[in-house]
This record gives sequence, C-alpha cells and structure tokens, in this order.
Amino acid sequence: WSSSARKDDGVLQVGGLAIPDLVADVNTPAYVLDEDDFRSRARAFRDGFAGYDVYYAGKAFLCTAVARWVAEEGLCLDVCSDGELTVALRAGTAPARIGYHGNNKTAMELRRAVDAGVGRIIVDSFHEIERVADVARQLGVRQGVMVRVTAGVEAHTHEFIATAHEDQKFGFSISSGDAFDAASRVVAHDSLELRGLHSHIGSQIFDTSGWEVAARRVLALHARIGAELGRVLPELDLGGGFGIAYTTQDDPADPAVLAEQITKIVTGECAALGIPVPHLSIEPGRAIVGPAMCTVYTVGTVKQVALDGGASRTYVSVDGGMSDNIRTALYDADYSCTLASRASAAAPVLARVVGKHCESGDIVVKDEFLPGDIAPGDLVAVPGTGAYGRSMASNYNHALRPPVVAVKDGAARVIVRRETVEDLLATDIG
Ligand code: LLP
Repeated sequence: WSSSARKDDGVLQVGGLAIPDLVADVNTPAYVLDEDDFRSRARAFRDGFAGYDVYYAGKAFLCTAVARWVAEEGLCLDVCSDGELTVALRAGTAPARIGYHGNNKTAMELRRAVDAGVGRIIVDSFHEIERVADVARQLGVRQGVMVRVTAGVEAHTHEFIATAHEDQKFGFSISSGDAFDAASRVVAHDSLELRGLHSHIGSQIFDTSGWEVAARRVLALHARIGAELGRVLPELDLGGGFGIAYTTQDDPADPAVLAEQITKIVTGECAALGIPVPHLSIEPGRAIVGPAMCTVYTVGTVKQVALDGGASRTYVSVDGGMSDNIRTALYDADYSCTLASRASAAAPVLARVVGKHCESGDIVVKDEFLPGDIAPGDLVAVPGTGAYGRSMASNYNHALRPPVVAVKDGAARVIVRRETVEDLLATDIG
C-alpha cells in the first residue's frame, strides 16, 4: 500500500482517491493502477541499475499506456508475442529498444519482429537460429540476437516459474555444450549479429546467490566465445525475477542494492577472466508493476463453514476470482486483503476470500483476518496484483476481464476497459 492510506472515515485511498469513488463508474472487479508508483519503481530500477539497459518485462502487465510510461521513463521493453509487440509499437516504442523472447516464436512472429526492426531477438533453439537467419536474409537486414542460455541454477521459487535448471524447456544448456554450439551457429550467419548471452533464472526470487552462480557460468561461456570464436560479445542480460512483498513476510531489496551486488559479481568475474565488462541489461517485470496495482472486489455473500475441532471459517465470496487472479490457484501464492469501503470496529475473524467460479480452488486470498461484520456490498482490496494478474486473466465461465483504472494527480482514467459480452460473442461465430 505504498501510495494508499485510510481516510478518517476508514475508506481506503489509492493515489489520493477513495476506492469507492474510483470504482463507482467502472464497477467491480477492477484493477487500480497507481501511475506514479509504477513510474517511480521504473525509475528506481533505471537509476539503481545505472549504466544498464533495463527492459520492462511486458508479460507482467502490458497495455498501450503502460508501454508509453515505460518509454517515457527511459526503459526498454521485453515482449514475447506478436500481441505484445503490436501493443509496444502502437504505443510508439522505438523498435531498437525492444527485445523479443519466447521458446517457440512462429514464423509470422519472427518475420514481423525482424521487419519491425526490433533491437534483439533472444533465440532459444537451433531451429529458431536458422529461422531468424533466413528471415533476416530475405528482408536484407542484419538482425541482432542474444542466445538464451540455461545456467543450471536451482532458483528457490515455485517450480513453474524457475527457469535455469536443466530439465525445462527454455534456453541452451551451458553444461552440455549446446550454448556454445548455438553461439557458433549464430556467428556463422552473416544475417545475424550476436549481441550477447541471456540468462533468466526464474521469478519472485529474493536470494541473489542464484544470479551470482548464473553470472559466473554465463561469463565463463562469454569468455570462451571470445577466445574460441574471436567474438568479444558486447552485451550480457541477466534476466528478471526480482521478488516483491506479497505478504509482510517477504522482504525485497532495493534495486540499487541489488545492482551493487550484481555489478560487483560481474566485474569481479570479468577481472578474474581478464575480459572487458560487457554492457549489462536486466528484465524486471513483477518488481515494477506488481506493487503498483490492486484489485477491488465487491463482497457478494458471506458464509460460516464449520471446521473440524469446532472452529469455523468465514468464506467471503467476491465478484471475481481465478479469472482475474489465477496465481493463488496456480502457484499457491499468498495475498493479503483489506476492507476498503468503510471502517469497522468489529472483532476480526479468520476469513478466506473466494471467487465466483465453479471450482473450490477458486481462492483469491487463502487466509486473512477481516472484520467480523464484513457483509455483502463491502469493497475488498487485494494489493500487489499488478504482475501476472490482468495479464493472465481468463474468460473462465465467460467472465468479462476487468478494467484497469489508472490513478494520477488525484484523477482517474480507464486505460483498459472492461470486456463486454459483445466482445466475447464477437469471437463466437456459431
Ligand atoms: N525475462 C524473462 C526471459 C522472463 O521469462 C521473465 C518472466 C521475466 C524477464 C520477468 O520476470 P519478473 O521480473 O516479472 O519476475 N506467471 C508467473 C511468472 C512467470 C514469469 C515468466 N517469465 C507468476 O505469476 O508468478
């Protein structure tokens, strides 16, 4: 709740505006995005990682307005699909400042990316190296590429979002020799320009030792490429994954502190290897947009359910759920929430905030103490939903994906409108 506070009447505010007023027109569920908070987090990475290129990972959340803010704050942009690229270009992002990821980009996606002039394509398979080389040759350009490598690091995060261990789909293994072979293949193509290596060890990580081990292994390969292929690669990307606080137990580091640690590791390693320090880049997504957004729901029903041993749990059903935030169901993620529309002096009860979808795993917040008088019509706000919330939202049960309301200087503006039934029916052509 960095920019939110309670007014005297107990009503929660975001960016100086009362939550009930913010959602009065757009209804709930709705995402509320604090633009200043987003921009200041973007700047904290830009300034903290001074001398680096900071690519905002659009997969965390992207829309035209956000892509503009990213460019205005001097960040580059990481996209991983034609949809994201289209939004980036529509927002006026300079193509040279776009990096393109993905383990299975289609031929159409590659053609459009090369044609648009994206600065770097991060290649992820031998097939793709040939495809990008062909497309670039056909279009008569020399395409910048990075080789995505797997450093073989066990990042301490959920299995599905860890990406640097060997047995997963991303990247070329360093230890098997594939990564070196991939670099050799790229170098052999006149239509490709090998800019550097790319490593992303996973997401929602707090312990910098993962980046340390990865950086060592990646730099050893970087040095080997210099020595054996005669190419001193100009760049190195260490990916994203910087963790945020979903609950009070998490304790994320300041970007400047992270930068200092990572830079020290890289410069030390380069000195030991006797190689120049490459131009570094990182790709934070969650750490920029996650804390800047909250989701506001309206309570619909409240139910007491008896538990073994005589206790009970209060089930608070809200008007959204796993269609606007799949992370609790998918990763067992922890969120908190709070009553946003009024004060209450009622004693707190242990509540579970659940959605309106047709399965019992449709949980938004597993355990939270909410006032015992919580009732239909109350607004509940869940902080920290900016990353991988709206971007992974679905139409499950024909839910209409919620709007995003941006708040700045005491004014609110809808930057993504709510879907309508007509939007859904437009694709259902019988
Ligand atoms: N760079 C690459 C190559 C990535 O694959 C990712 C995330 C990022 C950067 C940004 O990572 P971040 O800084 O946002 O952690 N849906 C999952 C997260 C999947 C992350 C996928 N890749 C979740 O909700 O936790």
